[in-house]
Amino acid sequence: MKKFIIGPIICVLFLISTLGVFAAGENVISMRLASDQPVTAPGEKGFSFFADRIKEETNGQITITLYPNAVLGSGDECVEQAQAGVLEMAKSSCANLGKFIPIMDIFSIPYLFRDKDHYWKVLDGEVGSEIADYTEEAGMKLLFWVDAGARSFYNNVRPIHTPDDLKGLKIRVMGSDIMIKTMEAFGASPTTTAFSEVYSALQTGVIDGAENNPPSVDKMKHNEVAKYYSLDEHMMIPDTLVISLDVWNKLTKEQQDIFIKVSKETQEFVKKEWAKQEVEGLKRISVTTKINLIPDKSAFIEAVKPLQESLSPKFEGYIEKIQAVK
Ligand code: GCU
Repeated sequence: MKKFIIGPIICVLFLISTLGVFAAGENVISMRLASDQPVTAPGEKGFSFFADRIKEETNGQITITLYPNAVLGSGDECVEQAQAGVLEMAKSSCANLGKFIPIMDIFSIPYLFRDKDHYWKVLDGEVGSEIADYTEEAGMKLLFWVDAGARSFYNNVRPIHTPDDLKGLKIRVMGSDIMIKTMEAFGASPTTTAFSEVYSALQTGVIDGAENNPPSVDKMKHNEVAKYYSLDEHMMIPDTLVISLDVWNKLTKEQQDIFIKVSKETQEFVKKEWAKQEVEGLKRISVTTKINLIPDKSAFIEAVKPLQESLSPKFEGYIEKIQAVK
């Protein structure tokens, strides 16, 4: 009789243990991370580092698959998906986040930062973390700031030396109101186009020009279809990596701590990669495109001063807080 009982018990125990293995397998959390540039761009290289480090630190419990090149949609579309909890993580420029989190628009204000050092002091400091916290009100959490350097004009009509040179040029911008108003203040004619469409819009003459940082111009090969690149550095709009709050809240405290630690590492990784690619990018751009520096930017700064002043009430003291960071 005993024989007949022990056999099935062993079978049941075996089944339970195997089910346990499968259950552990099921516990592996797979996440997707969507972004809009080729894997060789500084931010995207950072995301690959991020994915590897998260996998390593969680002993393979969390795996992240990258979806670069806007395959899951434009910047806005990916933020919408992350907000709705149908996409785990998205890279987004603060200019796109502004539609969901109004304070993020502050970074589209031209000449808001004095220089790169000021930019990082703000983002890494108290003001940056207060602004980042607003992301949670929109159903997301900002994991880290992704370096996005300074944006400058490139076009097919003439080199830009003063704001007057922008008069009448049709310039593509992201869908941010402040970017549109900035172009108007410079006398240009702004138009919003998806980032992935900029190359063909330049090639076919639908737009005269656009504005972006050197690594983006280089990685998206916009220089192939732009004659002039004029380094007026009118905006420093950071990119971000956001995670859906639904997804974040389902992580254990230990997993969240790993994300926070790896986010810090990745922010630093991208900073270094950015500095390197800015130099290399400009070199490559100069092969196809005439680059001009604008050492004295005062005419550009003056042209947008009224706009900057008019925006002060909207941001309830944050412009002043940013300016006060030394
Ligand atoms: C930069 C930025 C992107 C953004 C793009 C744009 O390249 O890194 O996040 O989408 O500009 O101008 O649309």
